[in-house]
Amino acid sequence: MTRTSLTIRQPDDWHLHLRDGAMMEGVLPHSAAHFARAIIMPNLVPPVVTALDAAKYRDRILTALPEGTDFEPLMTLYLTEDTDPADVKAGADSGLVKAVKLYPAGATTNSASGVADFDRVRGVLEMMADTGLPLCVHGEVTRPEVDIFDREAVFIEEVLDPIRRTTPGLRVVMEHITTSEAADYVATGGDDLVATITIQHLMLDRNAMLVGGIRPHYYCLPILKRGSHREAMVRAATSGDPTYFLGTDSAPHSKDTKENACGCAGCFTAPVALSCLAEVFDEAGALDHLEGFASRHGPAFYGQPVNDREITLEKGDPIEFPGQIETEAGPVTVFNPGRPVHWRVL
Ligand code: DOR
Ligand code: ZN
Repeated sequence: MTRTSLTIRQPDDWHLHLRDGAMMEGVLPHSAAHFARAIIMPNLVPPVVTALDAAKYRDRILTALPEGTDFEPLMTLYLTEDTDPADVKAGADSGLVKAVKLYPAGATTNSASGVADFDRVRGVLEMMADTGLPLCVHGEVTRPEVDIFDREAVFIEEVLDPIRRTTPGLRVVMEHITTSEAADYVATGGDDLVATITIQHLMLDRNAMLVGGIRPHYYCLPILKRGSHREAMVRAATSGDPTYFLGTDSAPHSKDTKENACGCAGCFTAPVALSCLAEVFDEAGALDHLEGFASRHGPAFYGQPVNDREITLEKGDPIEFPGQIETEAGPVTVFNPGRPVHWRVL
């Protein structure tokens, strides 16, 4: 019998961009409507570097939450070459800081303050290995001669593997993986290495972005890869393996900055993420593994309880995609995979 209803523990989003100010006010309700908690990315301008920055940012998020919404922002710090290990440790000990984010300098949106010389962050990484604080990694090299489609695979070999070898015990989330190389590497990494996967990398390949016209709303980083890599993402996500869990990387940019001669990277998936995810798991015949991927594997890695509340998804006629949402920072186009999605969150 085909399944038309599914009740699971409430999901969390283990990789989310909320931005700040008017944009945050516009997008936050869409994550809070579905997710109980989210790991909040620190790539603001200026970035969230110190525990004090994170405490202030958390307060701004909580203030912007719609009345009566229960949503817990899990704060991260942006790793720079000047990050003070003692400040990070104090932030983690207080319960405020849940992870540290590594952006290789220049890898993506607002990553100019990221790390170029890894020797300069040794002290922070060693403290994190001692205390168990996770490192969230944007896994792409930035050397100009490396092809954009190869940047993730090269990062594993040149950066991530060496860091893990020289820092035993370091707990790493390889974020938004996009390649079979990454899925395979993470699978062999033991308990200290996990990966998040986005909605767009489960649903789309690079043809969707580039064939028949260029679709800027599918442009994100790491960039969409060929179809065989997308299939590897679906296999990993739907496998039931606790190594993989949901991190949407929902990344809002105003419409004019996406539809631009030099458009920004990011897909705004938050409003439709769970509908799309259920569609992917349903197609793969893996609805039984949806709760693990969306609601259980992430908390297990981050040492958090599974959410008490439940949500129900129902299958029916294709959902109406919202097109765009309005914010005081301009309209933001909502991700649309370009094919019918039949699951809705009740
Ligand atoms: O597509 C992306 N957008 N990838 C990232 O790594 C950053 C994000 C953003 O902040 O817009
Ligand atoms: Zn991101």
